Amino acid sequence: MSKMSLDRILQSQGFGSRKWCRELVADGEVTVAGEPIDDYRTNFDTADLHFAVFGEPWVYREHVYLALNKPPNFECSRKPSHHPGVLTLLPEQFTWREVQPVGRLDHDTTGLLLMSDDGAFIHAQSSPKRHVPKLYVATTHDPVTDDLIRQLLSGVQLHDEPAPLAAVSCRRLDDHRIEIVLEQGKYHQVKRMLAAAGNHCGALQRTAIGDLTLDSLQLKEGEWCYLDATQLSLLKQR
Ligand code: URA
Repeated sequence: MSKMSLDRILQSQGFGSRKWCRELVADGEVTVAGEPIDDYRTNFDTADLHFAVFGEPWVYREHVYLALNKPPNFECSRKPSHHPGVLTLLPEQFTWREVQPVGRLDHDTTGLLLMSDDGAFIHAQSSPKRHVPKLYVATTHDPVTDDLIRQLLSGVQLHDEPAPLAAVSCRRLDDHRIEIVLEQGKYHQVKRMLAAAGNHCGALQRTAIGDLTLDSLQLKEGEWCYLDATQLSLLKQR
């Protein structure tokens, strides 16, 4: 059992500085399990703690694990320069909690993006040693040929890579779309592999990470959700 004072709880959940959180409590803006609490020193067990701030309900979470269906024209970098950052699509509390994207998608790539404030999780998921397969649907400029699929499966040489990179699997979906699975997460990897194989990538969507599919989450573009333990367990190497 972990007990914490209300001001610390609110701060840990991203409601602002300790001073600000104390003011929220003093102003009567916080209820815990439905009861208004006006003393920020009141201690609560954080396990399964339900509280509300400005009437909006929250559940205490030590860390958050999120999935976002990333729309185009949002940047994953910490200091976005040309487009808004993906964090602007989440409630402000998550920025205070230092939620970050797990790896990056290009500003024009759409689809499944994991986000978390758990450094160990972010590190483990991003590690090249983990070989978690990532599935993309790429729209190609030129028609998909057998030779394109063959090259992507056998490996293509990218300029700054020591050895050719190959897709784990790759199949034609229609004349201008392929489904490609990669285990590495190199910079612009799908786009560069397609270019190296003599085609050009138009739209790119990430549709799954491990066995967690975007379809299963039923998120519209720009929507996000918390991931539960079962969903997190799907993010494994096959
Ligand atoms: N490969 C790319 O080229 N871009 C992405 O955003 C992800 C994979």
